[in-house]
Amino acid sequence: MGMGAATAELFAKAKAKVVIADINKELGQKQADLINENGGDAIFVYCDVSNEQDVEQMVKKTVEKYGRLDVAINNAARTPDDKPIAELDEKEFDSLIAIDLKGVALCMKHEIRQMLAQGEGGSIINISSVSGIRPQPANPAYVAAKHGVIGLTKCGALDYSKYNIRINAIAPGAVDTPMLRGALEHFNIDPEPYAKQLSMLGRFAQSEEIAHASLWLASDASSYVTGATIPVDGGYTAM
Ligand SMILES: NC(=O)c1ccc[n+]([C@@H]2O[C@H](COP(=O)([O-])OP(=O)(O)OC[C@H]3O[C@@H](n4cnc5c(N)ncnc54)[C@H](O)[C@@H]3O)[C@@H](O)[C@H]2O)c1
Repeated sequence: MGMGAATAELFAKAKAKVVIADINKELGQKQADLINENGGDAIFVYCDVSNEQDVEQMVKKTVEKYGRLDVAINNAARTPDDKPIAELDEKEFDSLIAIDLKGVALCMKHEIRQMLAQGEGGSIINISSVSGIRPQPANPAYVAAKHGVIGLTKCGALDYSKYNIRINAIAPGAVDTPMLRGALEHFNIDPEPYAKQLSMLGRFAQSEEIAHASLWLASDASSYVTGATIPVDGGYTAM
């Protein structure tokens, strides 16, 4: 859904061979079909990023189908938590950390192994959030996970840039996706004034605007960029 779908479409238009990996089989397959109907080249692979076996299979199936892995975008995340830390629910905390933080680490592990085996470098893009830079109210698990994703990005860049595997993070601001719409509804927030509060541009981002940053980080145009976190946030973190 959301940013992942828009990113898959943009990469397919740029002639990338695309593997869509998600827990939602129906939507994932539909997205791959749509890309193929429009002249692109995509497959869907079921993968729960919190399960290492699934992640290993995701990379294996990618290589089986397309022969190699050059770019990986670690984007999957679940609905953020919604209570301040004194009301933390241990189960919710574990579930969010397993998907939003451990999931990124597991994906990086198997993506990097494949890129090392190929010996020609690669580009890994982790989707963090402005919540990985600044706290938001009542999201302790999400804020911690997204700060952690930036830590994983820097650590991975330090260890693997010598193999020309560049690892960067994107910190999107508020992006108009099912995740954002769900949160607005849950907290009963009026979208228009909220968008102005969260962006110098006075609006939510469209998913494509984040996907373009991923495309640049995937391409040789960003060949000297590694270990970076790039806010694509309409100026929010500068406010
Ligand atoms: N929407 C925003 O405003 C916003 C802002 C900053 C950062 N982000 C981040 O951007 C990324 C994409 O967000 P979005 O708004 O497009 O979300 P979304 O909810 O619209 O889509 C998330 C996708 O992840 C998949 N997913 C969930 N759990 C999974 C799991 N365990 N394994 C594999 N796939 C799983 C879902 O099925 C869905 O397709 C996330 O990392 C999110 O935290 C979103």
